[in-house]
Amino acid sequence: MRISVIGCGYLGAVHASAMAELGHEVVGIDVDAAKIAELAAGRPPFFEPGLPEILASATATGRLRFSTDIADAAGAEVHFVAVGTPQAAGTHAADLTYVDAAVESLLPHLAEGALVVGKSTVPVGTAARLAARIAEAAPHATLAWNPEFLREGFAVKDTLEPDRLVYGVADDHAASVLDQIYRAAIEAGTPRVVTDYATAELVKVAANAFLATKISFINAMSEIADATGADVTALADAIGHDARIGRRFLNAGVGFGGGCLPKDIRAFTARAEELGRADSLAFLREVDEINLRQRQRVVDLAVEALDGSVHQKRIAVLGVTFKPESDDVRDSPALDVAVQLKGLGAEVIATDPEGIENARLRHPQLDYTTSTREALRGADLVVLVTEWREYRGLDPVETGQLVGAQHVIDGRNVLDAAAWRAAGWTYRGLGRP
Ligand code: UDX
Repeated sequence: MRISVIGCGYLGAVHASAMAELGHEVVGIDVDAAKIAELAAGRPPFFEPGLPEILASATATGRLRFSTDIADAAGAEVHFVAVGTPQAAGTHAADLTYVDAAVESLLPHLAEGALVVGKSTVPVGTAARLAARIAEAAPHATLAWNPEFLREGFAVKDTLEPDRLVYGVADDHAASVLDQIYRAAIEAGTPRVVTDYATAELVKVAANAFLATKISFINAMSEIADATGADVTALADAIGHDARIGRRFLNAGVGFGGGCLPKDIRAFTARAEELGRADSLAFLREVDEINLRQRQRVVDLAVEALDGSVHQKRIAVLGVTFKPESDDVRDSPALDVAVQLKGLGAEVIATDPEGIENARLRHPQLDYTTSTREALRGADLVVLVTEWREYRGLDPVETGQLVGAQHVIDGRNVLDAAAWRAAGWTYRGLGRP
């Protein structure tokens, strides 16, 4: 099929490349000329495993093109809207400026029978509003809502082999067009939920709210574990054996961040308030608060480890991205901890395999190095806040020879506490005795 993808960020660039990989003819559109130039040259403007390969092969064959001109979307039968919906300044609500602008700009270019497909995460009710706008300005076109569940770091796999497909549609035709697009996944047995707009929009935010709640639940347990001498990791293993609970997303630590979970639970709460249902999602405020408290706990542990003050102490912060296998530092707990420690007068040296460039743009006041060894050298305290494989695999004996003092805070509960203690370290995790 002929497809356009409006918005070439983390979501759109992967979606466009994956659609081309499936054999469709795709044009990716973005207002950012520098980003489009990189993509057109076959280079992803961000780190995502597997993306360079499919992007390069699709651009080389000509199946995937990029443009800053929305008129280049005119020939497509299906238009995916994949622009951002960030948290609006000064509120918790989602900023829909980019979604609205994308749909408005598409209207004059919609061919007879064209399908506009929303992928962006939006407050429930947005699709119905956009469908009304399309019915008014381009009645020969229709709208579907097809939320995206990809995880950064696994975005290519999640797009090509999704757990499920969700279509919010107003008619059968839209569903059959989406079936054609995703034929490979459907033939592989991917479950497909065909529903109305509101449900499709809600599926996405409900899924993220559930995941965020799961993480904050185990983090709350880690606070209780700290107060009682219990071990939250063993607790998570034990409750996770219950198939109704499941072990995934029960890792206690410095908490969740990134471009989705934090802003999505806030926007969901704001939307519930607009709907007069603030009470229904009041618990998500607590989820957010527990999450932010985890960052503070790591900072407090640092102060405790250094006998009451981090002032002029050299602290190696391992990780700045919100999770491994990503260069994304949006709402990163790791970077937040680094900034707070710096604010308390510490000499922070932060390191990360992929995220330093993005971190430096946001927080130029921190010192950075790409070398783990350099970060560790002479440190009074080591704080692991993003569980990159390289940090999980650090040897406690070798690391002990590099640092100035053997204090480690394991903000992701991924190190072998016994082995680090045996090598002479004071080890502190979150909810671990
Ligand atoms: C998330 C959803 O998983 C995805 O389905 C949705 O489309 C977008 O939002 P992503 O933001 O890429 O994806 O990251 P994810 O892997 O979900 O992790 C989110 C955050 O939670 C990370 O900061 C991670 O470190 C943290 N996390 C995850 C925990 O603290 N503990 C866990 O057990 C799991």
